[in-house]
Amino acid sequence: MQESTLSVRRPPPNPDESAGDDESKTKKGSSFNCLSMHAAARSASGGAAVLLLLLVAVLLVSFLLVSRSRSASCSSPFDSLGSRMSLFGGAYLASDFGSLGVPWCRSKFGKTVEWTSKDLLKGLEEFVPIYEARPIKNNVYGMGFDHSFGLWFMTRWIKPDLMIESGAFKGHSTWVLRQAMPETPIISLSPRHPEKYLKKGPAYVDGNCTYFAGKDFVDFGSVKWEPILKKHGISYLSRVVVFFDDHQNELKRLKQALKAGFQHLIFEDNYDTGTGDHYSLRQICDQVYIRGGGHSCFKDSDEARIRMKRKKFWEKAVDIDELCGKGEAWWGVRGHMRDDFNHSNKAISYAEHFQNSRFVESVLDVYWELPPVAGPSLTHQTRYDPARASDPIVEDGRYGLFQRLGLGRLETSVFNGYTQMVYLRISAPTA
Ligand SMILES: C[S@@+](CC[C@H](N)C(=O)[O-])C[C@H]1O[C@@H](n2cnc3c(N)ncnc32)[C@H](O)[C@@H]1O
Ligand SMILES: *[C@@H]1O[C@H](CO)[C@@H](O)[C@H](O)[C@H]1NC(C)=O
Ligand SMILES: *[C@@H]1O[C@H](CO)[C@@H](O)[C@H](O)[C@H]1NC(C)=O
Repeated sequence: MQESTLSVRRPPPNPDESAGDDESKTKKGSSFNCLSMHAAARSASGGAAVLLLLLVAVLLVSFLLVSRSRSASCSSPFDSLGSRMSLFGGAYLASDFGSLGVPWCRSKFGKTVEWTSKDLLKGLEEFVPIYEARPIKNNVYGMGFDHSFGLWFMTRWIKPDLMIESGAFKGHSTWVLRQAMPETPIISLSPRHPEKYLKKGPAYVDGNCTYFAGKDFVDFGSVKWEPILKKHGISYLSRVVVFFDDHQNELKRLKQALKAGFQHLIFEDNYDTGTGDHYSLRQICDQVYIRGGGHSCFKDSDEARIRMKRKKFWEKAVDIDELCGKGEAWWGVRGHMRDDFNHSNKAISYAEHFQNSRFVESVLDVYWELPPVAGPSLTHQTRYDPARASDPIVEDGRYGLFQRLGLGRLETSVFNGYTQMVYLRISAPTA
């Protein structure tokens, strides 16, 4: 399969406006020094006059070098997965990113979610056949497998009385919510009604969903929630799940949700620092006092070297040049707070960025990032850097389990969209 078909997922352009290319650059599998290594091997074997023992030793060493460099640099992106392992020390360990690691947001009292990795595995087994029956097979610019599973799993666990989604596109996520809760009402906000897509191909319109779409579209932040919730018989806001896949500044959405009193939020695209088209929770919480947070723009640093290496293998990894903007601004995206599919891009100071994280911490009861469903040697995804994601549900090497769960039956392209979907439980700031 071609790189381009695998790379097509994350929109940054608003998918309703454009069918344009993904923002992320396609990185070529490097083929540096295959030739020079072959040459080295040849010249080594040419030294026939030298002691036999030495020759054997030299040949052995060059052979090792050649085979290593071959596997590391001369193969297709997929063949090189094995070499990625050897290059980075035998696995895709988070610790491979050295001082960087995986950032997270602190919650007020350090609470975490109820579900365990065992629950996630059980969920996966159940979800694979459901996903295989999805109406929209090609959901480029929308959710792939990982996030579909995450949304389904969390919604089913929380068992809300009302589900709200912002950002429907063709309706795949509406369908996922419906699979999780067959009888629960949905409210869907999206500038373009999913039914519009039916003319061109598969789309999903739900029979028990109130659409604020098309001419009835209202932005989440402008909705008068009280009468709507009343109409749906909702008296406890703890009974509502809100799902955001609308590429808006997540700080803005968080404040709006808090004001309305919502408590369970799921954000689809929780982009890592230096990437994405809107300011995300993960970006906000990326601070020097968080392990894996805070960055250096110093070109001679360990971080710069690690980033450069990682970028060769993972399309979404960013090096120091991409990470840092004017004045060594690394926070957000090069010191900017992006919003609305990057239609707005506002420079913020470090002090402002820092205040944002303090605010977020003051309202968080739980912050939980969905892990990728399976390690990259199993899914063959080449986009997100596993060193910046939590450990996968099905770890690398567990091929039998991967197959048993039915994950091997899915097209590999559905595993390319992982962007750290996050679940938040929030409440008013404690004074
Ligand atoms: C990435 S797509 C959503 C994909 C969808 N959730 C899925 O799973 O297939 C983003 C959607 O957000 C919509 N959108 C743009 N601005 C929005 C806004 N202010 N509020 C809600 N949705 C918005 C876009 O029109 C687009 O349909
Ligand atoms: C809507 O939900 C009700 C109650 O669960 C159900 O009886 C009805 O069939 C649903 N309607 C559609 C169109 O799905
Ligand atoms: C985002 O917006 C800024 C400012 O308009 C622009 O310089 C940048 O190239 C945009 N990035 C993407 C990926 O669209």
